[in-house]
Amino acid sequence: MKSKVAVSIYVFNFLEVGNKIEELVQAGVDWIHVDIMDGNFVNNYALCQKFCQDIKAKYPNILIDAHLMCIEPQRYIESFSNAKTDNFNFHYEAVTNKNETNILQIIQDIKANKMKAVIAINPETNPQVLKPFLDQVDGVMCMSIKPGFNGQQLNDMVYDNIIWLAEYKKTNNLNFFIQVDGGVRENTYLKLKQSGAEVLVVGAFVNVPNSELKTQINKIEN
Ligand code: DX5
Ligand code: ZN
Repeated sequence: MKSKVAVSIYVFNFLEVGNKIEELVQAGVDWIHVDIMDGNFVNNYALCQKFCQDIKAKYPNILIDAHLMCIEPQRYIESFSNAKTDNFNFHYEAVTNKNETNILQIIQDIKANKMKAVIAINPETNPQVLKPFLDQVDGVMCMSIKPGFNGQQLNDMVYDNIIWLAEYKKTNNLNFFIQVDGGVRENTYLKLKQSGAEVLVVGAFVNVPNSELKTQINKIEN
């Protein structure tokens, strides 16, 4: 099965990130995953709207996948849209009012702001809580690690979450894509693909010398 690579640029040395993005683009990567951390939902800070905008200005054909690890992500819909973000990828756990109508409203607002709505869940969150939203979202992202830090080992719970989503999608003839973030390594990527992950966010997996980049991407995309 072919999957898509989305590269998490957070893992690179920030002094080299421009060159890295250029290398990735040359190697055929067209999804860039930008980790946004608010120092509140997660105990860490990272990146922002301007980062998304600057990448898009230089590479208009690259899809910008903004992963918001931020409390009340709805506050940022307009600013990410203005920054030309393609995917607004927000955590279910970060929305305080989990009322169905409220979350559906957030999804509608994202779409009204011309972005794709992707809802993310932590490994411990049962994907069944997403049932009311699965015919509305463009994608679901299963975290396989605790959000906020790169370089962690994958939590096995993610496989069952992906399998359940893939099954539900098939049975109900739905269109959302299934994405996974964190812990994609030599010993995990195949099982993630086989479980039904269609987009794999990769950091360490592609933090390799330029000459090895294409090989790594091909493992996932072919
Ligand atoms: C962590 C981020 C991930 C992370 C992935 O909070 O959401 O995107 O950078 O890093 P790897 O692939 O190295 O586990
Ligand atoms: Zn991420």
